[in-house]
Amino acid sequence: MTESAELVREQTTETTETTETAELAWGRHYVAVEPTHFRIDYAINPFMDPEVQPDPALAMEQWQTMVATLRGLGATVDVLPQRPDAPDMVYAMNLGLGLVGADGEHRVVMSHMRYPQRRMETGSAQEWFAGRGATTSYVGRDGVGAHLEAGDVFPFGDALVVGYGPRTEELALKHLALDLGVRVRGLRITHPGMYHLDLAFCPLDSRRAIVCPAALDAPSARALMELVPEPLVLTEEEALTTFAANSVVVGRTVVMPACPDRVRAQLEAWGFDVVIVDVSEFHLGGGSIRCLTNPVDLTLGRDLPLLPRGEVVLPPLD
Ligand code: ARG
Repeated sequence: MTESAELVREQTTETTETTETAELAWGRHYVAVEPTHFRIDYAINPFMDPEVQPDPALAMEQWQTMVATLRGLGATVDVLPQRPDAPDMVYAMNLGLGLVGADGEHRVVMSHMRYPQRRMETGSAQEWFAGRGATTSYVGRDGVGAHLEAGDVFPFGDALVVGYGPRTEELALKHLALDLGVRVRGLRITHPGMYHLDLAFCPLDSRRAIVCPAALDAPSARALMELVPEPLVLTEEEALTTFAANSVVVGRTVVMPACPDRVRAQLEAWGFDVVIVDVSEFHLGGGSIRCLTNPVDLTLGRDLPLLPRGEVVLPPLD
């Protein structure tokens, strides 16, 4: 049995009781891109096949339901227009890492996409964020310097947790730690189907997260399990077929594309409400609810401890 299969078995024996945890303070304010030009023009992940195109009307309807659901839960959702030449721009999570500085100022570390097919998204997003008063910065741009895709980056515990390998490069972790003055904990992604951390990791509250260690190499899988005091472990199959880790959390509500019964039972035992929103058309491009929404209210000093010169913590090599 693989290591992750063992982890799941441990997890399935019983749901655990509710313990003292704090709700996530971030995840109340999102940016999303209206899917007016969503297509599969190329294949940069194993889900994409230009022979299988989404239904534009259904995609729009699913996206509108998702936005209405988030707004109904009290979240703010700001909408960017989609560039006609950028079919993947709907996956707004990858536009950049939005932050609120200790001084209340909005900052965005712009993504530097691994694949040239997506790089033009950054220019439009930078203008949009800057036009709304945010200070923008880069760790690399236009093919020069470190790649960073914000779907690899989430705060949890004492650090910014950053997946690297398929998209984000290790060098980007150093830039983030230094530029933001935070601890960065790197996790090495090795699974080609979980090419962004958000396909394998979803922080739920101060102690809990949905995790899929099968996305990572063995030392990083162990590091992830040590980082999360109460992990809700998905099998590789659950993560890939349901996109359940690609969910967003608004307070005590988890908005998910699908939820296996076992996962729902644990979430409910922990006091979460589960709301399902079907975004299956977007699975054709390899992304789900988290990929379609980008939280911009992650606040330095509140959601992430400040550390003067930053620090990068990497798991040992396999
Ligand atoms: N087709 C997009 C890509 O491969 C999907 C991005 C999914 N987004 C995410 N945050 N996982 O880049």
